[in-house]
Amino acid sequence: MVSSKNIINKCLFPVAGYGTRFLPATKAMPKEMLPIVNKPLVQYAVEEAMEAGLTDISFVTGRGKRAIEDHFDVSYELETQINGTSKEKYLAGIREIMECCNFTYTRQREMKGLGHAILSAAPIIGDNPFAVALADDLCMQASDSNGVLAQMTEIFQQFRCTILAVQEVPHDEVHKYGIVSGEVMKDRLIRVTDMVEKPSVEEAKSNLAIIGRYIMTPDIFDFIRETPPGKNGEVQITDAIKAQSEKGLVLAYKFKGSRFDCGSVEGFVEATNYCFENHYYSE
Ligand code: UTP
Repeated sequence: MVSSKNIINKCLFPVAGYGTRFLPATKAMPKEMLPIVNKPLVQYAVEEAMEAGLTDISFVTGRGKRAIEDHFDVSYELETQINGTSKEKYLAGIREIMECCNFTYTRQREMKGLGHAILSAAPIIGDNPFAVALADDLCMQASDSNGVLAQMTEIFQQFRCTILAVQEVPHDEVHKYGIVSGEVMKDRLIRVTDMVEKPSVEEAKSNLAIIGRYIMTPDIFDFIRETPPGKNGEVQITDAIKAQSEKGLVLAYKFKGSRFDCGSVEGFVEATNYCFENHYYSE
């Protein structure tokens, strides 16, 4: 952990979306609880936050998401059954998380987009910088580096500004992402000068796609409040960060490691195979 000198300790998980691409699996179960082998997506992301010293974990939930709260709480019957048996090892990972982290929950009453979901958490975040992790983007660390959130908190110590994790994507996929462009500052860091949500190939000024890891300074809440609904009638976080980048420094960071889009069936299957082959699940 890098917690001792960490000036961020909060990580926000917006999990209120419907997960329609995984229906019917997500009819009564949150998308974030879908397992990659035997560990739910959301647990991988919380572990990544914990590794970065982000131990205040907040969820923006919606209706039908109670399984997430139950997952990060004690299950007395199960504990009693399993205590002292060889199966206890399966609970070691989740027990460590519950010992190290605090959990808070707030609700997004209407699905008005990621920007709106983040704004719903303003009262629990307060006037502090915070990380945001979208659990359906599964990030796996490279052998020579920390997890993505730990890499980003380290950069934050130096620049104290909003930071977006980005990845180069094939040009024919830019329409699926928020795309950033800007000036290269140094290795892996770009000063953002423009951002556009889900552009066409012609509109896109680069192929640098924002993935589901952010660090935000708390003034982002004011930018979100001033952001009108954009694409699909949703309050787009990309629009709010673009406004923020026009007033001050916003960085895009080309992270080390791999990322799987587990919000799509193809990415989910790819992640499952990767984690199984590399033993990245609860053994
Ligand atoms: P997605 O659009 O990928 O998630 O939002 P979704 O809506 O659940 O999935 P599909 O497209 O219907 O299959 C990215 C993230 O933002 C959260 C989602 O839970 C997901 O983690 N989100 C999105 C919210 O919390 N609230 C919203 O209003 C929108």
